[in-house]
Formats: sequence, C-alpha cells, structure tokens
Amino acid sequence: MTASTDVPIAPDARLHAATHGSAAEPGATGRAGAKAILLGEHAVVYGRPAIAVPVRALGVEAVARPAAGPGRLSSTLYHGPIARAPERLAVTMTAMRAALAAAGQPTAHLDIAIDSSIPAERGLGSSAAVSAAVIEAVLGACGYTADDETMHELIQTAERAAHGAPSGLDARTVRARAAVWFDGGRIERVAVGSDLVFVIADTGVRGRTREAVAAVAQRRAEAPAAVERSLDELGSLATDLREHVSHGDRAAIGDAMARAHVLLNGLGVGDPALDHLVDAATAGGALGAKLTGGGRGGCVLALASDAASAVELSERLTRAGAAAVWTTTVEGSS
Ligand code: MEV
Repeated sequence: MTASTDVPIAPDARLHAATHGSAAEPGATGRAGAKAILLGEHAVVYGRPAIAVPVRALGVEAVARPAAGPGRLSSTLYHGPIARAPERLAVTMTAMRAALAAAGQPTAHLDIAIDSSIPAERGLGSSAAVSAAVIEAVLGACGYTADDETMHELIQTAERAAHGAPSGLDARTVRARAAVWFDGGRIERVAVGSDLVFVIADTGVRGRTREAVAAVAQRRAEAPAAVERSLDELGSLATDLREHVSHGDRAAIGDAMARAHVLLNGLGVGDPALDHLVDAATAGGALGAKLTGGGRGGCVLALASDAASAVELSERLTRAGAAAVWTTTVEGSS
C-alpha cells in the first residue's frame, strides 16, 4: 500500500486534513528546533518544574513523500531501505511508525529525507526534534496535520523508545519558539526581561540520557532523602529563575545555573569533560555555566554578559577544547 494523496477520512479525530501538498507534488515537510535546558533537567522527571530555551541556530527538516516501492531513508546516519535502517535509528523508526498508525496507514511506503544540524546525543533535543519533524512530515504525506496534543503524544511514543519514561520536556520544547516554563507536563511562555545571550559548548563526548536517568533513579532508591533535597532545591531554583528571567537579572540567572551544575554533579550525571568546560566558561567571564540535558557528556550552557562577551567566551571555550560552540540569544519579550 502507498500513502494516499486523496484527502482521507481521519482515523484519529484529532488529525485534520492537510492543506499543503498536492496530487501533482505529493510530499510534506516537518520541522523542529534544538532546545537547551536552562534549569531543571532530571528534576522534571520527578515532577519539579524546568525552564528551556530554543536554540535557533540548530534545527531539523524532514520531507516525506509516497514511494513507488519499499520506502527509503536518507539521512546523515544512513541512506537505504527503511526496512534495513540500523538500530541507531530505532527512535526515528518508532516516530515514523507511530505517525503512520495515527494516520490509519500503517503499511504505507514513504521515502523520507532528514536534514539535521542538531548534533545527536548532546543534550540538545536531537531525538525529540528529529521525531517531531518526521511525524509532521509523515502525517502530512498521508494528508493530515495534528494538533499540539496529538503531536506531543506521538513524539512521546518515540521518546519512550529513546529513554524509557521521558518527562515530556524535550517533546514540548523542540516545537516551542520562545523560552518556556515546563510544569506538570505543560509549557507556558516565560517573560524575558532583557536579551539573554548564551554560549553552548559541546564536550564532544556523547551524552547518555538513558544511563543518566537510570543513575538518578538508582541514587534516589539508595539515598531518598538526600536526592529529594537536591530535587527540591533544583525545583526552587527553577521557580526563582523564572522571576530572574522576567526581570532580566543576569547575575542571579548565572548564580542559579552554577548552583544547578553542582547539584547535577551530586546526582551523578556529571562528567569531567563537562566540568572542564564549565570551569573554562567561568574563567572566561560567563555569569554562570552548567551541563544541559541528560549529562554524562553532551553540552555546557553558559550565560554571557552580552553579545560581545559571547564572542570572547566562544573563543575561550574553543581554546579549552570544545568540539563545537554555538551562540543563541533569547530575546527580551517585555
Ligand atoms: C533530557 O533532555 C532531560 C531529562 O530531564 C530527561 C527528561 O526530562 O525526560 C534528563
């Protein structure tokens, strides 16, 4: 069976007939962006709030179109028949299958092309962003669009394949265009008092979110009171941080980030390469720096005083051995 280009009857009431694509040029595009967690990773898994920011320099685009025969995948990791995609793409394949099932076309053959600038396994939301883009594209190629909640549930299906019991933070934030507050599974836009310029530095070490989440769970089972104290403090820091962000209080934001890094290390999700870049960022004038995302590798997020200092900070982090650096500005909203 191939994907239909007629306007189909939605098998899932929350799907809507798409207006893009045509019989002459069937095919649909999905897009999502990278995110960086400003504060609250790991604590969100235990119901505490978090704040995340979009990283506009990095994104993913997926294009899906009906295939004449068995579908093919084209991505930086793999080019070939979808049926023979390697294990590393299991999450993407789960996303594709979830979207096809939601569209009522589980056996449809699609060619899918993925173009992503988000480095994988670096805590920047690559798996959720690729899933989001693929789901949007696959639904589109089947003639549908989905509302936010349906998209979220489909991305979460893929995220569960990535690391068991995801909080939903990544699934929500890779489709957000502004700084967001995440609490109780939902996001709200965060007021931003003045421009915040962040530098993200990649350790070059693969982050291991699944392992890191499991390590926190194990530590919590062994030392519940101590871990709950740290999670509570991370929750309070996030709550206070929302205020600091709304007032544009960069010094207080930086202090909260520095404290969060210490607490995350205490939870067992640090890595010497992360500490090295956090130290280099602090020595280079960052107002605060911390690991971002799952940890155990991946990236450091550092707050610069302004755009000019971000350039110096980036150079400093590169000299300190960062595999890559990006700058992202969260613009003031008030
Ligand atoms: C991973 O980007 C964020 C974690 O908090 C896991 C989750 O929220 O599911 C470590």
